[in-house]
Amino acid sequence: MRIVALVGSNRKDSYNMKLTTFMQNRYANKLELEILPIDHLPFYNEDDELNPPEIVKEIREKIKESDGILFATPEYNASIPAVLKNAIDWFSRVEKVLIGKPAMIVGASQGALGTVKAQLQLRQILNAPGVSTLTLPGNEVYVGSVHEKMDENGNLMDEATIQFIDTVVNNYIAWVEKTVVYESAY
Ligand code: FNR
Repeated sequence: MRIVALVGSNRKDSYNMKLTTFMQNRYANKLELEILPIDHLPFYNEDDELNPPEIVKEIREKIKESDGILFATPEYNASIPAVLKNAIDWFSRVEKVLIGKPAMIVGASQGALGTVKAQLQLRQILNAPGVSTLTLPGNEVYVGSVHEKMDENGNLMDEATIQFIDTVVNNYIAWVEKTVVYESAY
């Protein structure tokens, strides 16, 4: 199963990137998880959408070829960071490659609530007509106090969190196998 990961942080020591890399390694026998460089995308500009930069075309192809998407989002001011919104905006236009793709969402923050507000907004954005990305019902992964749950190398060490994510990933895989990717009605 080929899954692409969109990580909403451009920070070198991003916890969300570390969480995604941890998942990439831990589930390597179940998922081919590729992290796409959305932090290198230019700002979306409607003037450019019919003739977009090469990186937009490259990432778009990867999403198109994937069986599903992993969103890993930080929380910025009670929402998702611009890096992630910018990527969603690019891929919701012209060739709308997010439509019908089955997605799972994770998020990590140092705060106790672990990106609850950002994920609520992300689910709303993913339901927009040009996006229409399916999200795994329930199975919400909020990794709060993440700085206390990772070692200095960014490995998730908290056993309860690891087991919870194991369950969610198994549920996600079973769901993706049953999900029919449909065409756009728009
Ligand atoms: C934050 N942070 C934050 N955390 C949170 O739980 N709720 C919030 O609303 C915000 N808002 C916010 C705004 C801005 C501009 C920044 C830079 C940060 C803290 C944030 O969760 C923390 O920096 C994470 O470590 C960011 O994720 P990465 O980059 O580590 O993946």
